[in-house]
Amino acid sequence: MNRLHLLLSGVPVVLASVLLAADVAVEPVRNPLAGDRLELPKDEPVLKAGPGAELVRSACSSCHSMDYVITQPPLTRAQWTANVEKMKARFGAPLSTNEIPDLVEYLEANYSPPAR
Ligand code: HEC
Repeated sequence: MNRLHLLLSGVPVVLASVLLAADVAVEPVRNPLAGDRLELPKDEPVLKAGPGAELVRSACSSCHSMDYVITQPPLTRAQWTANVEKMKARFGAPLSTNEIPDLVEYLEANYSPPAR
């Protein structure tokens, strides 16, 4: 065995100890869902302020984001009524029949085409 061989035979040992040392320094991987705090995205779309906004937010946000309301092309009162009734009848939104007019009132006031 010449000198070079002697030198090279030590390489794996040196490498292994470097890797081991590096391994100890590595931060433990944490599951973000395992902790007691879960950060939600802060860019949740917010409805225009006004009478009924809170009612709509609480009645309509259990299944989807308010983006569905906000990014809709402006709908007429009749279209909003049909939309809300569809949420109830087809998708099972837990809305009572007597809150539908208040929901539609807000939606028409804030997300309808401008009156001519
Ligand atoms: C029970 C669950 C649920 C609730 C509560 C709910 N929606 Fe929806 N909504 C849906 C589903 C399902 C869709 C269709 C999603 C898709 O097509 O990707 C939808 C779609 C929509 C759309 C997009 C247009 C369309 O007709 O697909 C609008 C606008 C909308 N919802 C408004 C509302 C409003 C306003 C409320 C409150 C009155 C509401 N939603 C409450 C389930 C719900």
